[in-house]
Amino acid sequence: MSGLIMVTGASGELGRQVVEFLLKLIPAHRVAALARRPEELADFADRGVSVRRGDYEDPDGLERAFDGVEKLLLISARTFTDVKAEHRNVIHAAKTAGVRHVHYTAIQRRAGSTFEIPQVTEWDAYTEKELAASGLDVTVLRNSQYLESFDMLIGELAADRVIRVPAGHTPTALATRTDMAEATAAVLATEGHAGHSYTLAASQAFTLDDVAVILGEVTGAPVTYQDTPVEDYVAARVAAGMPEPWASFAAAWFRAMAEGEFTPTDDIERLIGRPTTSIREFLGQRRSRQVQ
Ligand SMILES: NC(=O)c1ccc[n+]([C@@H]2O[C@H](COP(=O)([O-])OP(=O)(O)OC[C@H]3O[C@@H](n4cnc5c(N)ncnc54)[C@H](OP(=O)(O)O)[C@@H]3O)[C@@H](O)[C@H]2O)c1
Repeated sequence: MSGLIMVTGASGELGRQVVEFLLKLIPAHRVAALARRPEELADFADRGVSVRRGDYEDPDGLERAFDGVEKLLLISARTFTDVKAEHRNVIHAAKTAGVRHVHYTAIQRRAGSTFEIPQVTEWDAYTEKELAASGLDVTVLRNSQYLESFDMLIGELAADRVIRVPAGHTPTALATRTDMAEATAAVLATEGHAGHSYTLAASQAFTLDDVAVILGEVTGAPVTYQDTPVEDYVAARVAAGMPEPWASFAAAWFRAMAEGEFTPTDDIERLIGRPTTSIREFLGQRRSRQVQ
């Protein structure tokens, strides 16, 4: 293999980390990074990465940006935008530019599940169909919800130290974005993944009851969890100033946990050669910083 490996969304939280891990595995002159504002990636350019401007909404610009690219990581576009058109543009431009292999970040789903995360699930199905029809080599990376996003959605502890979210009591195996980025880089840097998909989740599951216990230990005072009806959760978020569409969207992620969408797998462990970050390690590092 001699062409470039390009990471789209390289200015984002996941993409930036994928590029960092790739740079540990292959020489910088084989790595390319796409951004709408390439100046944000000056640090990568300084280290020899080919930084290119590209917007998922600009098919011609994408085709130019993909020149010389052999493998592409399509990091899914942001919700509340025209994701189907954006992904279609990337796939068609990749095909026209001669890219051989596209890797796509979908969301993890339980086998046989009919649960829908509005926008996300339908867009993944559409994108995977477009990829299958493109004739390109395809690898799908099914990411669990990021532990970082989950922690952000829980937010600051309320004064009464009760977590009130609609996540049920189902075990859930969320992995960190960092572990997913490292696993993704391992796939990009090696061969033999065409036609395969990987489920990038943690190998150990936890419940919200576990989260409450750990947060109690980390912050030094007991925390409890109360499974909360979606309507009450959304009303509380809206009362706190969150726009209703965002509150409903956040609720859908908690419902996905309750529905058991995020089951454990050892794909990350096998790809990175070490255990995934546990909920205890994650909350310990993150929340202890907040209470210092
Ligand atoms: N599994 C999960 O829990 C979870 C949680 C949140 C999001 N996601 C999905 O995973 C993706 C990556 O997550 P993240 O945390 O890295 O999100 P992020 O920090 O918001 O990064 C998104 C990246 O996509 C780029 N992008 C968005 N629209 C684009 C366009 N039209 N053309 C070119 N680039 C565009 C952004 O570029 P700019 O810097 O130019 O905006 C940014 O680099 C998200 O976009 C979302 O689809 C998954």
